[in-house]
Amino acid sequence: MLWLQVALVAAVAAAAPAPAEKRWGGDHGGHWWATPSQTSDYIDFGKRWRSRDAVNGVCDLSKAQMPVAPTPLPSPAAGLVLSHVALGRGTQNYTCDLSNSTAVPVAAGALATLFNVSCIAADLPDLLSKLSPIALDLPIPSSSDTSSPVYNSMSGRHYFTDLTTAFFNLDTELHPSWGQGSFKKANSSAAPADATKGQFGKGDGTVPWLKLNAKMGAVNQYQEVYRLNTAGGQPPKTCKGAAASFEVQYSAEYWLYK
Ligand SMILES: *[C@@H]1O[C@H](CO)[C@@H](O)[C@H](O)[C@H]1NC(C)=O
Ligand SMILES: *[C@@H]1O[C@H](CO)[C@@H](O)[C@H](O)[C@H]1NC(C)=O
Ligand SMILES: *[C@@H]1O[C@H](CO)[C@@H](O)[C@H](O)[C@H]1NC(C)=O
Ligand SMILES: *[C@@H]1O[C@H](CO)[C@@H](O)[C@H](O)[C@H]1NC(C)=O
Repeated sequence: MLWLQVALVAAVAAAAPAPAEKRWGGDHGGHWWATPSQTSDYIDFGKRWRSRDAVNGVCDLSKAQMPVAPTPLPSPAAGLVLSHVALGRGTQNYTCDLSNSTAVPVAAGALATLFNVSCIAADLPDLLSKLSPIALDLPIPSSSDTSSPVYNSMSGRHYFTDLTTAFFNLDTELHPSWGQGSFKKANSSAAPADATKGQFGKGDGTVPWLKLNAKMGAVNQYQEVYRLNTAGGQPPKTCKGAAASFEVQYSAEYWLYK
């Protein structure tokens, strides 16, 4: 089953207090949403999201409003427009200097698969905000088969090209010209105190919300990226008992501006 659908069903179930008779699943029309249906924005949205329109991009990103960090991040630069919103699921990597008994973990990049949640950001921000913690508890989905549902909803990949350069690659075989870009951290803000600290409620903390700016001199199709509604990803406070390099599971929304 499509990974994002699993996350969405769980999020809708959590978001809309459901009467006992409500069931989640697929119907004969291929709608995996709710039967019997109930008047609710979420269910209505679910149907629209599954329809060809949403998949083909008929949703109004200008309606989407970024969630605001407890200490707000700076706004996008004048003239930039929101172009894409992705849900990222992957790992934050860290290294530890094992020869130093007082060493602390040092960030060593990240690797995440990005999924297209642009229409959800435009139409149902409440639902979007619930996806990161749910995605964190699901395995990292991966498929290079262009006919698989996972590949179909994949925006692309996020990784690091060196220790301080975050790269976003939204070009896949299905959409070869959505664009790419190299970014540097420009600003950071602690995640809300009640944010998910790790998988299944256990972990060392939530990575901060970030603003990233295009790296100087880079040929980018995107100019600014925000990492928001983070879940997990933080390393232990010290290197005691840690490996020389390790990964911490995380999930986050990425908002890309052009
Ligand atoms: C996927 O992203 C594009 C923008 O890059 C957007 O136009 C389209 O509506 C999105 N599809 C969904 C299902 O969110
Ligand atoms: C981060 O943003 C805040 C608020 O806009 C600003 O006061 C601060 O100087 C910024 N920090 C950096 C490192 O740019
Ligand atoms: C050991 O780690 C601490 C904490 O990061 C650091 O301040 C100190 O300089 C390190 N010592 C050496 C010898 O690298
Ligand atoms: C981070 O983890 C991924 C997944 O195992 C790995 O492919 C990558 O090389 C790691 N990156 C670093 C900088 O250690």
